[in-house]
Order: sequence, then structure tokens, then C-alpha cells
Amino acid sequence: MAHKRKKITVIGAGFVGSTCAHWAASKELGDVVVLDINEGTAKGKALDLLQASPVYKFDSTVTGTSNYADIADSDVVILTAGMPRKPGMSRDELLGINGKIVKECCEGIKKYAPNSIVIVVCNPMDAMAVHAKKCLGFPRERVIGMGGALDSSRFRTFIADELKVSVKDVTGIVIGNHGDAMVPLPRLSSVGGVPLNELLSADKINAIVARTKQAGAEIGGLLKTGSAYYAPSAGAVEMAEAILKDQKRLVPCAVELNGEYGINGLFVGVVCKLGGKGMEGIVQFKLNADEQAEFEKSVGAVKALVDGLNSIQI
Ligand code: 2OP
Repeated sequence: MAHKRKKITVIGAGFVGSTCAHWAASKELGDVVVLDINEGTAKGKALDLLQASPVYKFDSTVTGTSNYADIADSDVVILTAGMPRKPGMSRDELLGINGKIVKECCEGIKKYAPNSIVIVVCNPMDAMAVHAKKCLGFPRERVIGMGGALDSSRFRTFIADELKVSVKDVTGIVIGNHGDAMVPLPRLSSVGGVPLNELLSADKINAIVARTKQAGAEIGGLLKTGSAYYAPSAGAVEMAEAILKDQKRLVPCAVELNGEYGINGLFVGVVCKLGGKGMEGIVQFKLNADEQAEFEKSVGAVKALVDGLNSIQI
């Protein structure tokens, strides 16, 4: 049987979407379709990226479109469409605006790529993941929010930077929501197999935790117009790769909990096993009392967002 290439659709040709296409194509994860309501932007960015393929030597086609029929049979859809967070704007303020956009996108996905696995990136991510799952009607295994992958990447970056060691040797996870109440877990971090708290003082660790929680805002404040896109898109493509290659990777991401950690029906960032079927399992572990209290606060933040979402007409 002929080998069939995987197909990845990125919805939204803004900075996050086009950078997702860039990582995905250059890693040869499959053929990439970039969809945007602005057809020229989608086609222009796709064509530009494609023209880099002889230099970077990737055999991925990249096409731009505004027509949902072109996403047919996608294996993975990365949903990035939406307004980015403006400086000073909370993720929550984006609820109404992006809720409408996500709904429209989900109608297209449901119609043309009903078997796809959807990675939700747009903010406020936790609420948009809940909303997307509702609009799509897909099982929870196939609607996965990108937050933990990004937040963990930032956490690891800051640890490596502080210790002046390779990022490759740093493990670290962030669970909970994708917002100020996220829960980095330094107790579980290690560097070359050595527990982080053997290597850094409590003060230094606390500073890294605080910076991780504010990392999106730090970038937004620097950029002034717009928000982060390299690390967010890297997080989304890491998840896509794990799914497309059936890697069974353990990555923190937001999924609907069905009793895990005592929570039902809410999307919360937890450690997930990502493979060919999407979210193939949740790795539960025991939190200590402080972590548990923080986790509950984080869950409360998701709840507040979802209540906000439910109170507006979309
Ligand atoms: C970030 O964390 C804006 O949520 C986005 O960079």
C-alpha cells in the first residue's frame, strides 16, 4: 500500500499559525494546509514557506486557503485563529471575541475533518478548549488544549538559563490553567537527574516560578503590539508531532477531566500521554498540600472563565 503523508491543518495565518506551519513543515511532519479567512494572507505565507523548502530540504507541501473543503481528512488541526492578547489585556477579555471565531472554525472542522485531532491554542485557551469541544462534539481524546507544553517549555528555559546548563537536561512540568494561576512544579523538576531543589535556593526557585507564570505577559510587554508566538507554536507542534508519530510522549496539556484529580467536565492542564489516538491517557500523581491548594486555585480560574463563557451569547 502506498505510504500516505500525514496532513496537518493550521487554522489562522497570524504569527502563531504561520510559525506552527513553519515548524511543522520544516520537521516534515506531513503536508501542511494553512487556512485563514484572509485568503491572501494564507496563500502568501504558505507560498513563501514552500519556497524555503529547497534550501531547508523539507518534503512537505504547504498550501494556503480560506476554504474549509481544503482541510478534508486532516490528521491534526491546530486551531490558532483569534485575536492575540494586547498589552494590558487579560486573556479573559478575549472570551467573547474569540468564542465566536472558535465556533465558526469548529463548524468547518466538524464538517470537513470530523476524524481529526484538534489542538486548541487560541486564548483564553482553557475556555476556548471547553468551547471547541462543545462545538465539535468530539470525544475528549481528540480535543486537546496547548498550554502546559508552552508553560513547561518556559519553565525549563528559565531553569537552564539560571544554572547555565543545556535545556536538554532540564525536565519540568507546569499543570493547571494557562493563566496567572498556573502551577509550575519545581519539586518534580530535575536537571541531569538531580532534583532542582538540590541545585537552587528556594528564593531562586520562587523567582523562576513567578517568572514562568508571567512569561506570556513579559513577552507581550516587550513586543507592545501582539504577543508571543515562537514558543506557543513550538508547544503546539510538539504535541502534533507526538500525535502524528504516535510517540506516546508525556506532555502537560489541557484536557477534559472525567474524575481525574476529583474534577469533572472541566479542561485542566495535566500530564497526558499523546499518541496516534490523541490524548491516550492521563498520568495522575500525588500533589503535596501546597501544590494541591495551588492546583485548586488554578481549577477555580478555569471555572470562572467557563462561567464567563456560559454567561455570554455566542
Ligand atoms: C502566552 O502565554 C499569550 O497566552 C499567550 O504567551
